[in-house]
Amino acid sequence: MNRFTITVYPEGKKIIASEGDVLLRVLKKAGFPIPASCGGQGTCGKCRVVVRGGVCHASPSPFLRKEEIGKGYCLACLVLVEGDMEVEIPPESRAAAGGPAVVVGHKAGGDKPDTAPGAPSAPESTPSPAPGVPAAGSRILFEEKPVVRDKLVLGKWEIEPRTRRVHLQMQPPSLDDHRSDIERLRADLVVRGFSGERMRCPLPVLKKLSKVLRSGSWQITVTLIELPDGVEILDIQPGDQTQHHLGLAIDVGTTSVVVYLVDLLTGQVIDTAGSYNAQIRCGEDVISRIVYARTHEGLAELQQLVVGTMNELIDQILQGTGLAARNIGCIVAAGNTTMIHLLLGLDPRYIREEPYIPTVSSVPPVKAAEIGLKVNEHAYLYCLPAIASFVGGDITAGILTTGMHKEPPLTIFIDIGTNGEIVLGNADWLVTASCSAGPAFEGGEVLHGMRAASGAIESVAIDRETLEPRISVIGQAAPAGICGSGIIDALAEMLLTGLLDRKGKICRDIAHPRLREGEYGFEYVLVFAKDSAIQKDIVITEIDINNILRAKGAVYAGCSTLLKQMSLGVEDIERFLIAGGFGRYLNIHNAVVIGLLPDIPYEKFRYLGNSSVTGGHLALLSQRLWKEAEHIARSTTYLELSTSASFMDEYVSALFLPHTNISLFPRVELLLGERK
Ligand code: FES
Repeated sequence: MNRFTITVYPEGKKIIASEGDVLLRVLKKAGFPIPASCGGQGTCGKCRVVVRGGVCHASPSPFLRKEEIGKGYCLACLVLVEGDMEVEIPPESRAAAGGPAVVVGHKAGGDKPDTAPGAPSAPESTPSPAPGVPAAGSRILFEEKPVVRDKLVLGKWEIEPRTRRVHLQMQPPSLDDHRSDIERLRADLVVRGFSGERMRCPLPVLKKLSKVLRSGSWQITVTLIELPDGVEILDIQPGDQTQHHLGLAIDVGTTSVVVYLVDLLTGQVIDTAGSYNAQIRCGEDVISRIVYARTHEGLAELQQLVVGTMNELIDQILQGTGLAARNIGCIVAAGNTTMIHLLLGLDPRYIREEPYIPTVSSVPPVKAAEIGLKVNEHAYLYCLPAIASFVGGDITAGILTTGMHKEPPLTIFIDIGTNGEIVLGNADWLVTASCSAGPAFEGGEVLHGMRAASGAIESVAIDRETLEPRISVIGQAAPAGICGSGIIDALAEMLLTGLLDRKGKICRDIAHPRLREGEYGFEYVLVFAKDSAIQKDIVITEIDINNILRAKGAVYAGCSTLLKQMSLGVEDIERFLIAGGFGRYLNIHNAVVIGLLPDIPYEKFRYLGNSSVTGGHLALLSQRLWKEAEHIARSTTYLELSTSASFMDEYVSALFLPHTNISLFPRVELLLGERK
């Protein structure tokens, strides 16, 4: 096969490609950050490059304008290499890709993969939730409360992890005591309360037993794990090592991965680290990843990428703390069903095809080393059980974190990402559903959308008199695009200033330099090119607004369908709990104004942080809580919205700002009345 050289600008770096290679893959393999929300299917328009010269085959795309094509713009996923090439990655593609944001112990810089409660962080919100009508343009964020940490401190449940470390001072053998080394060890462990009959010692541990016993002068530390069918000796070390008893709780998210290193003696989190999931380069949502998994070696690549991310984070924490990987004997991971399939290397194909069947919902424990995790070579990985194909173990973990399954108040728990998972109920019953919000809240399907990384506009306010925007940008960098929280703010503010009508149409009657007919229809300019990092105007178009309306409509309709199914209304909601990275920066007031969240008293809303990793932390520490998680997964009723007659009605009604039935949003009605 012919090999060609591709020179990538502005670096001038040369990389080698084979004839017929897809340019996007070649660039990504070489480490160039290129956004690819759709995973290379040509449907997101994000992977823009400029082909300066050379030989290639570029398929046409509706995402490219005529004059852009004239300048050499192509979508990298639609370009096949056919000769030497010169390619430029333009500033907007670099900016939209975001940087690798690795966080250890706390949030770093302005980037915001969600590290969840547990990690110390300075308060960033303006905790002023108040009932009644807020001032126009006011910004109301959540007050973060580390629910679980309270419980840990208060010691309301016993720390009882699956792994145990036991220090033994054994009697050496003698001519009168001929027992073998393993018999001797087993007998001492029985004295310490373990069942000898159901105890097993894997061959690799057995191989080093005689040496360790003697090198430690018969003083050893044994690490054991309780499995469904007995107890297994995971490791033996000379001397007393009981003070180093570690476990990991990991949130395997579609966008980011968060790792907690946990001291299993005290239950405390020793350190945390978070980073974007390296699989992002293969698509931003689960559907793109499922599609990617079907490409040649796609599944293996996806598995290696996520395991690689996890290993990097584990390594960073261990280097920072000086602790050893061999002391980690147990890992609890929580993730959506597709992510867990990809982590284990299971084909996720049938999750996407009707009737949406996963290979496994409740994964039996697996050896962490089998999937390449760099911890103790005999450590076990436990994945929290899923409720359904589109309501995974991360939601089981979330329910466990909220405690809603044990408490009387009627609660809605919601995790908004590319999928919105919603749980409704209390101690008596739980129902759940998943609605496809699409990638709009994560910056996809929005012309200048980007992930919540440095350079993203995270909040917007619009002056009522001048109609000029005030923005804040993550990392205080020059703006390069807008992330989900900024988009919601922009829509709410445009509605409240009269720039937007309730159908999502931008007003044509106001003469203002920021309102104009653009390449993609009518638009409002948030940032002019001279002030942007991408040397282009950053705009909100009516197409963007339409995509956000569909996303918010799906989430609201999911909530209202569940409520209707149970013959309840929004007035019955006693708590509204929001989890996930997106929720943390959500302005509740603006989310209500656009009709993403119901118009209920603000004090009922509460942000939980990363409830997936928190639930994993709980299940790691307590076998009783693990059993509760299993019970939650078994007993929660899943409602399939795609077959629900009322969901479509609710969805169509929710495609207005805030809703076709404005009386459901009395505060917004009042604000819009004042506007008039
Ligand atoms: Fe190329 Fe989406 S259009 S990755």
